[in-house]
Amino acid sequence: MARGLEGFHDDVEVSAAYVAQRGVPVYASALRAAVSLFASDERLRARVLDAWGAREFHASYERPMLLLAALRFEALGDRGHPLSREIAEERGDGIVDREALAAAMTDAVLETMRSRAVQTNEVSRSIAWRLALGELPRGELALVDLPRDELALVDLGCSAALNLVGDEVDQAWTSPDGAPIPLVPTTHVTARFGLDRRPIDARDEREARWLRACIWPGQTDRSARLDEALSLAARALDAGEISLHAVDAEEMPSWLERLDRRALAMQTVFVEYLPPDVRARYEAGMRRWLAARPDCAWVELETGPGAHGPAVIRLHRATGATVLASCEYHPRVVHLERARG
Ligand SMILES: C[S@@+](CC[C@H](N)C(=O)[O-])C[C@H]1O[C@@H](n2cnc3c(N)ncnc32)[C@H](O)[C@@H]1O
Repeated sequence: MARGLEGFHDDVEVSAAYVAQRGVPVYASALRAAVSLFASDERLRARVLDAWGAREFHASYERPMLLLAALRFEALGDRGHPLSREIAEERGDGIVDREALAAAMTDAVLETMRSRAVQTNEVSRSIAWRLALGELPRGELALVDLPRDELALVDLGCSAALNLVGDEVDQAWTSPDGAPIPLVPTTHVTARFGLDRRPIDARDEREARWLRACIWPGQTDRSARLDEALSLAARALDAGEISLHAVDAEEMPSWLERLDRRALAMQTVFVEYLPPDVRARYEAGMRRWLAARPDCAWVELETGPGAHGPAVIRLHRATGATVLASCEYHPRVVHLERARG
């Protein structure tokens, strides 16, 4: 855990190498410029410490990614922004040097660094619940008096709940040999809930801009998927097909306990955002919920170790856990862990 600028230099080195390897050198340059600028400009360092001094950061990429997203957020909202060409246009090339960065470190950027957290919303992660659905027998005996097939889908740490409309987005997944991954229909998923400490309403333009800002420049596929999912989620919210609930991680298991129907709970890239003690209580609560509800299931897409990628899709049931697949964090190719019928 780090506060303020403790260990910032080391975190930047990890993230700068990561973004450069993935074809966004402009972000690597901006991060390295930040280390140098924050070290030499005392006034700016004091403003950054004011924004970050009381915050706790757990994952090494949190501060670097938050700084970059805060800069891109402003640039996306202003065509005349000094970094517009470098970080708002979808090129991902160019350089941000110390002078350019200094000019962009406005009060608005610092306020974003103080108050927001990176909230990626990657709708390709909906493969987790699509795979899980294929594992759950249809027509299982429900504990409550509802048509046997009906299932509620609950997205835990949902951000803008875009995974809940993942089955409507124009996307497909393949196995490493290029064969399409077979998926079951979703018509029996009759209720969809998104839970997050701070759920984002896809209809809110400013929040939608924040989600766009959390995608790196040049990731045009991801931006296109995000925009499609945002409009589908906006429509589903209007129609009452999905609902959002502000719930803290530790309260999520009891929220599920109160749900009077059979549910598939899903989380994608969520637990690393929780402090270790909160994570432990959350996971213990989820296991208790499942033990009491053997007709329900919980699927996660979280950091591995995976046999074929950094992320693992794991299905938990009252009887135990099974790894279904491994993949990248933005999965297009999915390595199924065992033959599926
Ligand atoms: C990286 S985002 C993942 C969003 C989405 N599941 C995805 O895969 O794209 C992590 C989410 O966890 C939420 N979050 C972080 N800490 C939380 C907490 N203590 N309680 C509830 N939600 C939390 C954040 O608001 C954020 O929306």
